[in-house]
Amino acid sequence: MEKREEIYRGKAKTVFATNDADKLILYFRDDTSMLDGQKIEQLERKGEINNRFNAFIMQKLEDANIPTQFDTLLSTNESIVKKLQMIPVECVVRNYAAGSLVRRLGVEEGVALEPPIFELFLKNDKLHDPIINESVAITFRWASLEQLTRMKELALQVNEVLTKLFDKAGLILVDFKLEFGLFHGEIVLGDEFSPDGARLWDKETHKKLDKDRFRQGLGEVVEGYIEVANRLGVPL
Ligand code: TMP
Repeated sequence: MEKREEIYRGKAKTVFATNDADKLILYFRDDTSMLDGQKIEQLERKGEINNRFNAFIMQKLEDANIPTQFDTLLSTNESIVKKLQMIPVECVVRNYAAGSLVRRLGVEEGVALEPPIFELFLKNDKLHDPIINESVAITFRWASLEQLTRMKELALQVNEVLTKLFDKAGLILVDFKLEFGLFHGEIVLGDEFSPDGARLWDKETHKKLDKDRFRQGLGEVVEGYIEVANRLGVPL
């Protein structure tokens, strides 16, 4: 596999073309952002940890027959992935109230959400990723009803698989964000799954071990990610 030109630079990852038209290389950087990219810091080893974490989780999801973009771990900070045509709609699944749900609805943080809540957001930093719904996504042709139905089905399957996996590691999967894309017409899970895009709490103490440590200035951000990885058995 030959690495070619940079084709996209996101807030935490850089995407490179390859000599295979169907494959990309994702480079996980140490950059950590908040407030839609207004605040950015480098956290040593974060890129490497998220790359290995993502590979581990995506393989678990593939084992559960969930189609993902992941192909192979290439180096400490890089993975080979399928080239998807990304859908600009972020899917959030919530098992417990936190973050924007608490701010929007005034519910108490930590309240159990039964059944889990499924939400859609437009992927647009300038607009601060506004919440949308199926009707909005269909009208603006961001995704079809059929695609949105499949995205929801897959997101809830991911939730079932990962809730159990994290529970066995003594962790609560509070909420998470997923992005999907099309690979030869099929809806496939894309982007990454890491503590950057999920909330993970210790089951007993409710200690936050995810990006909220950065957002809330709690310190020991990468240490939190490493603790989660170690408990899951992610090889670092
Ligand atoms: P929220 O509470 O800020 O809406 O976020 C819900 C979950 O989704 C949380 O784990 C963070 C993640 N998320 C992202 O990673 N990126 C995003 O752009 C959004 C909207 C949420």
